[in-house]
Amino acid sequence: MERTFIMVKPDGVQRGLIGVIITKLERRGLRLVGMKMLHLSEDFAKKHYAVHVGKPFFAGLIDYITMGPVVAMVWEGTHAIEVARRTMGATNPANADPGTIRADYALEIGRNLVHGSDGPKTAATEIALWFSEDELMTYDRSIDRWIYE
Ligand code: RTP
Ligand code: MG
Repeated sequence: MERTFIMVKPDGVQRGLIGVIITKLERRGLRLVGMKMLHLSEDFAKKHYAVHVGKPFFAGLIDYITMGPVVAMVWEGTHAIEVARRTMGATNPANADPGTIRADYALEIGRNLVHGSDGPKTAATEIALWFSEDELMTYDRSIDRWIYE
């Protein structure tokens, strides 16, 4: 089982797409193991996006991500990181495959609705940054035997 950090960005919250985004991941078979809503401080936003410090879009990205509340989640499943990224679609919605969250609901790279960890190391770092151990659930679902062989 792999875990990944997913965030509904402020545009997703404002546009009423929290449910759509959760539904896409939930119906895929991934299991939600942690969730909370918060409004990021500039400091926290800079920590989360530390890898992008110095890039031309960094200031705009920090403005964007602090514009309003976000929904932070941890999802679990086999290949959860890759599966979630593919369900989200390409970073630039213009290049995202139809059926993905970003293709179906977004137009611009700077308003792309959702964040997902891009690899195992990033996932571990992001989950530790956003959640404490006691905020993450460990549980079985009776449907899991219909999702996992
Ligand atoms: P995210 O981290 O938000 O899941 O997105 P990502 O991995 O698909 O893309 P990443 O390269 O990590 O970029 C982080 C976010 O910064 C904004 N961005 N703008 N204007 C630009 O060229 C540009 N490039 C990136 C996007 O909001 C992107 O999701
Ligand atoms: Mg990224």
